[in-house]
Amino acid sequence: MSQRSFETRSGDVKSRNYDAVASFYELLANAYSFGLIRRAKMIEFKYLKPGQRVLYLGVGSGEEAVAAARKGLEVTALDLSSAMIERLRARLARKGLSAELIVGDALLHQPREAYDAVCGNYFFNVFGPADMPLVLRHAIGLVKPGGRLMVADMAPPPGGLRGLLTWSYLKFGLSFFWLLRLASQHPIYDFRLYGEREGLTTEAVRDFGLRKLGMPLYRTVVMRRPETA
Ligand SMILES: C[S@@+](CC[C@H](N)C(=O)[O-])C[C@H]1O[C@@H](n2cnc3c(N)ncnc32)[C@H](O)[C@@H]1O
Repeated sequence: MSQRSFETRSGDVKSRNYDAVASFYELLANAYSFGLIRRAKMIEFKYLKPGQRVLYLGVGSGEEAVAAARKGLEVTALDLSSAMIERLRARLARKGLSAELIVGDALLHQPREAYDAVCGNYFFNVFGPADMPLVLRHAIGLVKPGGRLMVADMAPPPGGLRGLLTWSYLKFGLSFFWLLRLASQHPIYDFRLYGEREGLTTEAVRDFGLRKLGMPLYRTVVMRRPETA
């Protein structure tokens, strides 16, 4: 397994706090969402083929990166938190799988070659409205022409009472993260709009939640970079 370190902004508060929750973050997220957070990430495999190069930004302890390595993808996984990357390293080792692991800031990642796909799962929402578009733009720049950017995250709430209930549920989670200083307070982003504004084409939008009640809670957006970038 290759593991190289990367420049970090030492003392970054998000890194320190994610270090503190590394051992239980994924468990908590999946319990809070009744497993929907995981399902929204795993749907991305529908759009990935063995042998493709995939980058996971803000990978956390990386359940989806482990699954990707098991499916024969060439995985690069990056996170600012060394504790998160350490957990992922141990997970991969236990299963005899390999991946390139990077402790570093997503904004500083400059690979030699662009990726077939870049996934930012519950990652872009740690940034406030001033920074998020910059991080998203950088992520798009890491996708090769014709490749995919995939974002699993909170779904933008619909209008009316159902929207209010959805918003309250999602805001409760976001506020909990904000209290722990793991995320900033901000509106729930519509990543499809942000991606299209950057010239991406939307290939698929998959919602997860109380669909029969018209209340999507989590959403995976699959977007493509034009062939001629
Ligand atoms: C909400 S967690 C999501 C983790 C994982 N993708 C998941 O779905 O379980 C956000 C992750 O982004 C990482 N992170 C925050 N700022 C970052 C940055 N500037 N560069 C890379 N990773 C960052 C945190 O350390 C944390 O692991």
